[in-house]
Amino acid sequence: MRLFLAALAVLLLAAPAARAEDTLNPPHWQSEGVFGSYDKAALQRGFLVYQTVCAACHSMNELHYRDLTDLGLSTAQAAAIASTVKLSTGPATLDDIFKAPAVNASAFGGALPPDMSTLVAARPGGTRYVYNLLTSYQNAPADVTLLPSHYYNTAYPGLQIAMPPPLKDNAVTYADGTKATTAQEAADAAAFLTWAANPDLDDSKEIGLRAVLFLVFLTIIAIATKRKIWRESL
Ligand code: HEC
Repeated sequence: MRLFLAALAVLLLAAPAARAEDTLNPPHWQSEGVFGSYDKAALQRGFLVYQTVCAACHSMNELHYRDLTDLGLSTAQAAAIASTVKLSTGPATLDDIFKAPAVNASAFGGALPPDMSTLVAARPGGTRYVYNLLTSYQNAPADVTLLPSHYYNTAYPGLQIAMPPPLKDNAVTYADGTKATTAQEAADAAAFLTWAANPDLDDSKEIGLRAVLFLVFLTIIAIATKRKIWRESL
């Protein structure tokens, strides 16, 4: 019974977290909880930030335009977005990989913008690291001499990054009316990149939840059986 109550408590505690949306104050991503899932509105805003800003420098070679239907867009909407992208072969279609930018490392002090498909999985702190990186540009302290084409960023290991500050307030206009502050854009971009690195999170967490419910069920049966057997043998 105690195990059952503990399992029930876990479920009840986790349930409201699973329904919460991504928030800024404090920064919270719905995908972080035990039973977390993605806030699709945030993912759509994050894609807009990627497409408008980050895609000028970063490729995402593991994503196809058809994957946008995972963000809650219809096939027609995803196709419409693809058709606005010009490839050398003509407008992109659902089956095309996200268009890779032509970047020149010499523009960035020798650094190349990494492909962003799995960047969140490759960096400790993942989602939160990307958010912090995008919101932690500062003027370099007087005693720090910056390398050529580098910027001072307190979230970046080594504190000097070759990526110019990519975001500013109103860098995008959100279709859902959300105010496009730098922090909001950063949080949404982080959510989108988290989904890109782990698009099946919703599925895997649902399987986890089912497994927990099954174990709770099994526990009840086991307790009931034990009681019955012991009653009968007395
Ligand atoms: C003008 C080009 C440019 C744009 C636009 C740009 N980046 Fe970058 N980014 C870079 C470069 C160059 C690097 C490599 C930095 C280095 O190695 O010092 C980089 C690195 C990164 C990294 C990796 C940091 C690490 O830990 O290695 C992340 C994360 C990142 N960018 C996120 C973004 C996001 C999100 C956007 C859009 C909001 C964006 N970038 C827009 C050029 C750009």
